[in-house]
Amino acid sequence: MKIIDGKTIAKKIKGEIAKKVAKMIDNDMDTPHLAAILIGNDPASQTYVNSKEKDCKEVGFTSSVYKYPANFTEEKLLEIIDFINNDDEITGLIVQLPLPDHISTDKIIQSIKPEKDVDGFHPENVGKMALSMPTFLPATPYGIMQLLERSKIETEGKNCVVLGRSNIVGTPMSILMSRKSSPGNCTVTMCHSRTKNLKEICASADILIAAIGSPEFVTADMVKQSAVVIDVGIHRIKSSKTKSGFKLIGDVKFDEVSKKCSYITPVPGGVGPMTRVSLLLNTLKAFKQNLNNL
Ligand code: GUN
Repeated sequence: MKIIDGKTIAKKIKGEIAKKVAKMIDNDMDTPHLAAILIGNDPASQTYVNSKEKDCKEVGFTSSVYKYPANFTEEKLLEIIDFINNDDEITGLIVQLPLPDHISTDKIIQSIKPEKDVDGFHPENVGKMALSMPTFLPATPYGIMQLLERSKIETEGKNCVVLGRSNIVGTPMSILMSRKSSPGNCTVTMCHSRTKNLKEICASADILIAAIGSPEFVTADMVKQSAVVIDVGIHRIKSSKTKSGFKLIGDVKFDEVSKKCSYITPVPGGVGPMTRVSLLLNTLKAFKQNLNNL
């Protein structure tokens, strides 16, 4: 069994981005600027936004975070997005999800200018992805595609099972793996809460992508011998064995599944760092497109 080391691969890509930004600075050019909007005080969302700020700093991007309280109105949020959409200094914009219940996520996503939608969530960009047109790919699926590519994992003609149908991971992942491309060209089955014979379907997968949001859901009996297992889950649970009193686990029962598969992504250090670096890649892409449109 081989561990797919997302941390190392992400670090390498980050180094490549940092080099490109350093060149821009040497040439007296502007550099990419990522803006993030955070509503409320969900601790996980705060952590994610802090990490994005840190990543930007490390590669030389400018970043700004717009923080508002949980009772911020939808109307005001739309105004801020409109302002950022029209600010030429800002390359890309993400609105951290989930949003409070009184704000329509669909409406907010649709209000982001597609050219600045570095999350790849706008319907125009999702449509382009489905049609294999150039666009921003959502960060987690994009990160997984790069992990498969850089780890030289053969995907053509394989059975790929995607567990979970979220807009952010499961749905785009199933589209990307079925596209006529490399990685891709898989026969894809998507499983969700209403799927019958879920265990049997998972056990038929050459490539199993677990994005179900349930800690250690995937057990060894659900995995085919020598399958490739990609674990998208990240759950913080109490542990008596760590200094902090917590540990991170995924959607896959790593100890038993890792003995059976050919490749597996660990949690932490697998998909997570690749998601973060993919947002940087999308922001760089948005910046280059802006320059081309001048
Ligand atoms: N919440 C969980 N994942 C994401 C993501 O990729 N982008 C945004 N904007 N919010 C998220």
